[in-house]
Parts: sequence; C-alpha cells; structure tokens
Amino acid sequence: MEPIRTTDPTQINFRAKFELTGKVIVITGACGLVGRAFCEAVAQFGGKVVVADIAQANPKAFAQQLSERNNVQCEGFELNVAERKSVIALRDFVFETFHSLHGIVNAHQNKSHLVFEPFESVSDDNWDTVMDVNLKGTFLMCQVLGSSLAENGGGSIVNIPSTYSVVAPNQNLYKGTSLGCPAAYSASKGGIDALSRYLASYWAAKKVRVNMITPHGVWNNHEAQFESNFAQFSPMQRLSYNHEVASALVYLLSDASSYVTGDNMLVEGGWTVW
Ligand SMILES: NC(=O)c1ccc[n+]([C@@H]2O[C@H](COP(=O)([O-])OP(=O)(O)OC[C@H]3O[C@@H](n4cnc5c(N)ncnc54)[C@H](O)[C@@H]3O)[C@@H](O)[C@H]2O)c1
Repeated sequence: MEPIRTTDPTQINFRAKFELTGKVIVITGACGLVGRAFCEAVAQFGGKVVVADIAQANPKAFAQQLSERNNVQCEGFELNVAERKSVIALRDFVFETFHSLHGIVNAHQNKSHLVFEPFESVSDDNWDTVMDVNLKGTFLMCQVLGSSLAENGGGSIVNIPSTYSVVAPNQNLYKGTSLGCPAAYSASKGGIDALSRYLASYWAAKKVRVNMITPHGVWNNHEAQFESNFAQFSPMQRLSYNHEVASALVYLLSDASSYVTGDNMLVEGGWTVW
C-alpha cells in the first residue's frame, strides 16, 4: 500500500494501521511455543493464517481451532521446511486456497539432541540437520514463497534468528541445569540474520519488507535453576512469554511498520544491552 503523503497526523487512523483483516499470512513452526502465539495474534487482528508445521504437530487440528476461536479462515498444512518440493506444495496450496499472499513468518526450528553434545564431538550429520531445517528451510521459504510476494506487489517477511546470532551464549546460564545451546544453532541463526538483511535490500524496490524478531528465553515450564540463573543475567530479571513476542509480529506484518525493513526487533528483555 502506498503511504499517505501528508504532514498532518490527524488524517491518519493509527489503529487501522495495525489491522491484518483480509491478509493471508503463512506461519511455519506454527504449532510451536512461539508459533502458536504468532497464529493467535494474527488471527485476532483478522489475518487468515496458514498454519504450517510437520505432520506430527497436527497443524490441521490447530488451524481448525484457530478458525473457530477467531471466526476467520485458517488452514493447516503439513510441511517439511527443509524439502523444496514440500515448500513448493505449500505455495501451491496457499494460492489455490486463498488466491493471494501478504506475509510469511518463518518460526520453525530443529530441536536436535545436538543441544547436549559438546562442540568437540558434534557429527557432520547433526550439524547438517540443524542447518537444513533452520537456515535452508528459511532460504526455501523466502525463495519459493517470498518470490511470489515480489512478483505480486510486495508483502512482509518476518524471520526468526536468535539472541545467539547477536551475542554468544553466556555459558554460566546453563550451570547446574540440563540445558545448553549448540554452536550449530548459533551458526544457523547467524545465517538467517545475514539472509534477511540481504533480502531486505534485494527486494526493497519490489515492496517486500524483510524483518526479524529475536526472542530470548521464552518461558516453557523451565527447570527452577535455569529460571533463577536467567534472572541473574537479564536486566529485566525474568524470562519472557510467547505472547510478548507475538505483539511484535503484528507490528511487522501490518502497515504500522510500512517504513521498516532489514530490522531485527529484539524482544529479549535487554539481554544484549549490557
Ligand atoms: N523459545 C525461545 O526461547 C527462543 C529464543 C530465541 C529464538 N527462538 C526461535 O523462535 C522460533 C520458535 O521457537 P519455539 O520456542 O516456538 O520452538 P518450538 O520448538 O516450540 O517450535 C518449533 C516448531 O518448528 C516445527 N518444525 C521442526 N522441524 C520442522 C520442519 N522440518 N518443517 C516445518 N516445521 C518444523 C516443530 O514441529 C515446532 O512446532 C525458532 O526459530 C527458535 O529458534 C526461540
């Protein structure tokens, strides 16, 4: 949409800028902790959500509940984001079902057992699995579905890197816990960050805005030791909640962010500020 050329803010309906009514938004990893909140937020703002996730996550059932709760058409799609033919099938499904596309949100991630392996013994296979899902999956989504946005007048892409593509993990965070953070995860997220900035520039003239949301420490019934370690190192002294991450998505998908591209919105409670 072309911006209104004015210096008079009284001509602007700021509330309407955040509306997603009529927009078709594809969300990968849609049944995950953050993905579920993304879907809910988009549907509450009137967006039609394509709930894309692996078959085991049962995206069709979640899409049906989302539709009924919010009275908006949502559809589930079983996707392996790391496979080109699966991503092409997703694109075909979106255009056959909705005949348009306005936004793409890449919120998938591989949860590999690699998390618990020391860097020195990570196998090629495990490294490749994380890279294939996180980075190649984001590349395929941007190439196959993002190209449709570029060809059809623009849209908004939101990719999800990590605090660990901005700063290194503080290893003390994991002391006394069963948790950890592998190098492959950080490396894959660094690639997503670079790819997003590249595409923000590459597709700016085609009116495709490409931004990022960086969540950090999203609460998911973590063990008590982790939660107290986290509080020590966080300026806000607490974990975040998935709904706090999702609010940022509404801004980046909607016309409220019409002049924002290449941005990485840090929803990390100030983790990287000190
Ligand atoms: N939770 C956090 O604290 C946190 C912090 C920083 C960044 N992130 C990022 O935010 C995003 C969402 O995180 P989350 O906590 O919701 O993760 P999650 O593990 O709860 O959800 C990830 C989803 O991706 C799906 N998925 C896995 N492999 C897939 C594949 N091959 N094809 C399609 N879907 C696949 C899973 O089924 C799952 O539903 C991820 O990119 C993650 O790296 C999360």
